Amino acid sequence: MPTEDELSGSQHHHRPPRPSPTSIGNHKLKPQTLMLGYGFDPELSEGSLKPPIFLTSTFVFENAAAGKRFFEGVTGKRPGGAEGLIYSRFNGPNQEILEDRLAVWEEADDALAFSSGMSAIATLLMAFVQPGDCVVHSGPLYAATETLIAKVLGRFGVSWIDFPAGATREEIDAAIANGREKGRVSLIYLESPANPTNALVDVEAVSAARDAAFGTSERPPIAIDNTFLGPLWAKPLAQGADLSIYSLTKYIGGHSDLVAGALVGEKGLINQVRMIRNTIGTICDPNTAWMLLRSLETLELRMERAGANAAKVCEFLRDHPKVEKINYLGFLESRSSQADIFARHCTGAGSTFSLYLKGGEREAFAFLDNLKIANLAVSLGGTETLASAPAAMTHLSVPDERKKQLDITPNLLRISIGCEDPDDLIADFANALNAV
Ligand SMILES: Cc1ncc(COP(=O)(O)O)c(C=O)c1O
Repeated sequence: MPTEDELSGSQHHHRPPRPSPTSIGNHKLKPQTLMLGYGFDPELSEGSLKPPIFLTSTFVFENAAAGKRFFEGVTGKRPGGAEGLIYSRFNGPNQEILEDRLAVWEEADDALAFSSGMSAIATLLMAFVQPGDCVVHSGPLYAATETLIAKVLGRFGVSWIDFPAGATREEIDAAIANGREKGRVSLIYLESPANPTNALVDVEAVSAARDAAFGTSERPPIAIDNTFLGPLWAKPLAQGADLSIYSLTKYIGGHSDLVAGALVGEKGLINQVRMIRNTIGTICDPNTAWMLLRSLETLELRMERAGANAAKVCEFLRDHPKVEKINYLGFLESRSSQADIFARHCTGAGSTFSLYLKGGEREAFAFLDNLKIANLAVSLGGTETLASAPAAMTHLSVPDERKKQLDITPNLLRISIGCEDPDDLIADFANALNAV
């Protein structure tokens, strides 16, 4: 078994696959097309159109010299990375094809697949953060991410400071300056849009603030959780982020039938995280990677349909007499700073939004209990519409003061619109609202 410091470097197929075309003449192929074949050579798998699932824990070396060569590559003793697969805790064919295809959407150098969104985030934090450091982050974050940074890293002597999603350049500058007083700022961590406020982070402003505050040698990477709008409607690497984080469990998996995560971004940073992933084994398994390849084939179709459905449903809900307000990115006030960020960063409003009914918990529960098509469940980004009440469910343990700050009131519903017929969804919501 290799030692920890032997485990950096990337790995490639045992026999290099025939390169899949990424263009025809001057015509550059789009992600939707690349999701169907990119990164897989049927000739290496008996002509199978689809990649087989490689259920193996280890890979046989052709000879001892090849084994040595692979380890020289993986340990960095020889530049260029590993030439072949070694052991399934490091990588496998299904995961490598998945990583190649995930990188396509944001035109990234490289990607890493993980066993969950949270294991991607935890591995990222372990790669960049040391005792005494301060993590500067936008707020709010997904609750488990907040716990991981504040409570778990806190046990290892790491501090944090946050600025509100939607902060101005001045507020971001101030947070970075305050963070530097607490310790070495080794990571800037963002999540946009924030849950449940849907507030967008100005990634360009964060990137400019980072570049102004730090010299090149001490510059912390900017990582951003792009689960809610990525990879179709937001590509934050284009706005100055270095790493995009995904819970693949949501839109990318898209069928509410798996849990996985990913990081997408700059090769040098990805390789630093790869070393930790190789060491602790947070890679996703080959079955899950295969299912994600299946899912990526319809990613654009599913997200476009869900986005169009959400626009119609929100248009219906907006003026309904039992609705107090709706936080949907398609309804940002024109000329507001949020609309300005949206115009610069996003190409679609997504399909996950916050609905506030008139009344309180009684009305929210009556609505949820009368839905016939939409499912009463947490999570988002699947083919089926989901609805939940954060104050009573996902955010139940959030202190009251913080709930107030984040507008997590008993009448709040989180809704993720799926791929059903939009008129059927409107009929379902109309019926449930009538029962309130
Ligand atoms: C924005 C966001 N990030 C990360 C996660 C964690 O992902 P996973 O459940 O795949 O670990 C979630 C899950 O709900 C999420 O909504």
